[in-house]
Amino acid sequence: MFLAGSDTTSTALVWAMTELIRHPEIMKEVQMEIREIGKENGCIKEDDLGKMHLMKLVMKETLRLHIPGPLLIPHETMQETKLLGYDIPAKIRVLINAWAIARDPLLWEEPEEFRPKRFLNSSLDYKGNDFEYIPFGAGRRGCPGILFAIPTVELPLANLLYHFNWTTRSGAPRARDLDVTEGFGIVTYKKYPLVAIATPHFS
Ligand code: HEM
Repeated sequence: MFLAGSDTTSTALVWAMTELIRHPEIMKEVQMEIREIGKENGCIKEDDLGKMHLMKLVMKETLRLHIPGPLLIPHETMQETKLLGYDIPAKIRVLINAWAIARDPLLWEEPEEFRPKRFLNSSLDYKGNDFEYIPFGAGRRGCPGILFAIPTVELPLANLLYHFNWTTRSGAPRARDLDVTEGFGIVTYKKYPLVAIATPHFS
């Protein structure tokens, strides 16, 4: 639980912040939503998360473009099967390249672009019912931590965006230059640490 739930959630938060800083127009729009909802309490509480529509799209797009578990977890076939003309024997290890699926141009329009609104009016969710979007895997061995994972990322993200304005060291005009190289590992962490400048926002 600690292993599966720590790196995945912290990595997702770093990528969400990275992409938002690279896309100041999206950052501004999502901040407007968050600040409108949070102004009553002066912060974002867990109960507020359900009211945030754009923030949820940002989260979905982050988990598509920077899927934390690129190869899911190794699975084993239970029986012999045929797939796309290939004979797959029973009891062999199968790795699912969810990273490649999430960036497949046959399934996604401009897959390399960070475009949260692609999920607007889309029925894709985290449950793994649609195989083009499986950041939490699918089936009985899919991630059992989904309901815990989403607020674990969304709550700090919303509060970081509520309380601060963000830029990089090089300043807003060059923010798109932020590096998005992924490191090598079980979890796709950001290879070079995100260095961002926070300016307090007082509403
Ligand atoms: C953004 C956060 C997270 C992502 C993207 C994620 C993703 C995944 C993926 C892809 C798998 C493998 C599923 C498969 O192979 O079909 C998995 C397994 C698992 N996850 Fe998560 N996870 C996240 C957070 C968490 C959290 C917070 C917990 C628990 C506190 C958790 C607990 C587990 C466990 C125990 C497994 C192994 C399940 C098994 O093998 O039966 N995960 N997760």
